[in-house]
Amino acid sequence: MKRIGVLTSGGDAPGMNAAVRAVVRTGTYHGLEMFGIEHGYQGLIDGAIRPMGARDVGGIINRGGTLLRTARCQAFYQPEGRAKAAEQLALYKIEGLVVIGGDGSYQGAEKLYEEHGIHCIGVPGTIDNDIGGTDFTIGYDTALNIAVEAIDRIRDTAQSHDRLFFIEVMGRHSGYLAMMSGIAGGAEEILVPETPTDVQRLARDLEQGVAKGKTSSIVVVAEGDDAGHAMDVAKKVSELAPQFTDWRVVVIGHIQRGGTPTAFDRILASRLGLAAVEALVEGETGKMAGISGNNVALRPLSEAWECRTQFNPNFLRVARVLSR
Ligand code: ADP
Ligand code: F6P
Repeated sequence: MKRIGVLTSGGDAPGMNAAVRAVVRTGTYHGLEMFGIEHGYQGLIDGAIRPMGARDVGGIINRGGTLLRTARCQAFYQPEGRAKAAEQLALYKIEGLVVIGGDGSYQGAEKLYEEHGIHCIGVPGTIDNDIGGTDFTIGYDTALNIAVEAIDRIRDTAQSHDRLFFIEVMGRHSGYLAMMSGIAGGAEEILVPETPTDVQRLARDLEQGVAKGKTSSIVVVAEGDDAGHAMDVAKKVSELAPQFTDWRVVVIGHIQRGGTPTAFDRILASRLGLAAVEALVEGETGKMAGISGNNVALRPLSEAWECRTQFNPNFLRVARVLSR
């Protein structure tokens, strides 16, 4: 393998730039020609491909977002779209691809290999930390710390005004980020999509908190909770427990996806980016470079969507016991 391309795909995550840097520098270290592909699979189809050298990735390890840009690409779901992408890769004589993104991006990568023989290695990048085959995804730690800082700030004002706050944390299908930020932020209640939410019980628990002397409370709501968004939950609680007249809702939103990556995410991205390129050099394909017990581990790409990170009910217990 002489030429390798790298792209970022799906939702961006802090630390993706550190991963791109690691991929490009590992490639140049091994004497390979490296190419950056802009806007994920869309750029691959459009031929938005440029050579990248070690100096092109200087000064980006600390930057959020992705300098390669990212995209969601409808055309890539179709065989014709993937055929166009393969034509572009052939034009540039690129034989291997590092795909930095989530399990959707890996499903596309898997098809690109099956249909066109392009060797693909995945690097997990998403703030949701919901990908099977890796303990952590790049961006999760940064997003967690941003959410916790937001909760801390809100707690100050909640305590000052004796208020009930509902804070929405990202996670359309996964409550991991909400759960961890709720535990670290000392939230009274944490609602996640993986467990059914009983709003009546929630209202009762909040009332009991007041009876036990709590003057303010924080409820963390994962974006994808079955009871709805934070505003929906807040309205339902205020109807069931009218004693809460002074409540507020905060949606942290995309603030969680931006900003300087933490040291943890930079190190993770550096290790996984390096491993991904070396896997391609060794002839691997259809694998993801993930982290398992602080060791880099190559796992089949399909694990990413077939063995989604299981929700650990012990975390819920920690949250419940410690918030009473
Ligand atoms: P993520 O990679 O973060 O899970 P998405 O699920 O949005 O994000 O996937 C990113 C892109 O990967 C999609 O826009 C599409 O181009 C491609 N993709 C996702 N799933 C598939 C699939 N089943 N087949 C082909 N391409 C896919
Ligand atoms: O995958 C990360 C994530 O932040 C999800 O938690 C969220 O639902 C989604 O991306 C939102 O992404 P966008 O606003 O880009 O569609």
